[in-house]
Amino acid sequence: MHNCILMKVLQISARDTHSLRHKVLRQGRPIEECYFDGDEDDQTFHLGAFVETKLVSVASFFYERNPAFEDVDQYRLRGMATLEDHRGGGHSRALLRTAFPIIKQNFCSLVWCNARVSAVGFYEKTGFTSFGDVFEVPIIGEHLLMFRKI
Ligand SMILES: CC(C)(COP(=O)(O)OP(=O)(O)OC[C@H]1O[C@@H](n2cnc3c(N)ncnc32)[C@H](O)[C@@H]1OP(=O)(O)O)[C@@H](O)C(=O)NCCC(=O)NCCS
Repeated sequence: MHNCILMKVLQISARDTHSLRHKVLRQGRPIEECYFDGDEDDQTFHLGAFVETKLVSVASFFYERNPAFEDVDQYRLRGMATLEDHRGGGHSRALLRTAFPIIKQNFCSLVWCNARVSAVGFYEKTGFTSFGDVFEVPIIGEHLLMFRKI
């Protein structure tokens, strides 16, 4: 029999995302950079993947329109991060799989993100397509706008 790792996806608070965002996305930077505009908005939600009781992956979803797309109602994915030791275990994919029906319930059928170029392969595997050219985000590096219809 295979060893089975039990993973759970739960809704978490913005506060619960901050230390993982910091560790994975803003290491060495002030923790305040991990507080995103809109974190506490009513339409925003945050998901976490747990292995037993340990939070190993987070993602946040904001009701935010990108003018590159015509859809009136859009969600933006931000703060997608998995602890290094837990990568490749399907945690981020599970977070997205949980988020998409919630977003659809809110009558939105487009999700977009500014993807780090190093993570573009992940987004392609989870059904996102790139849009436009690579652009630079100061300090963090090269990004591509990506979107997915749900
Ligand atoms: C990108 C990241 C969030 C992916 O998280 P994860 O939990 O490891 O992702 P999953 O295990 O759900 O991956 C789903 C699929 O994408 C693949 N994948 C994951 N990261 C990838 C990457 N950087 N490039 C190419 N493919 C990748 C996985 O191998 C898996 O493929 P499979 O279904 O064929 O097995 C994680 O690598 C991470 O935190 N990276 C550092 C921070 C970062 O870049 N975040 C994104 C900012 S835009």
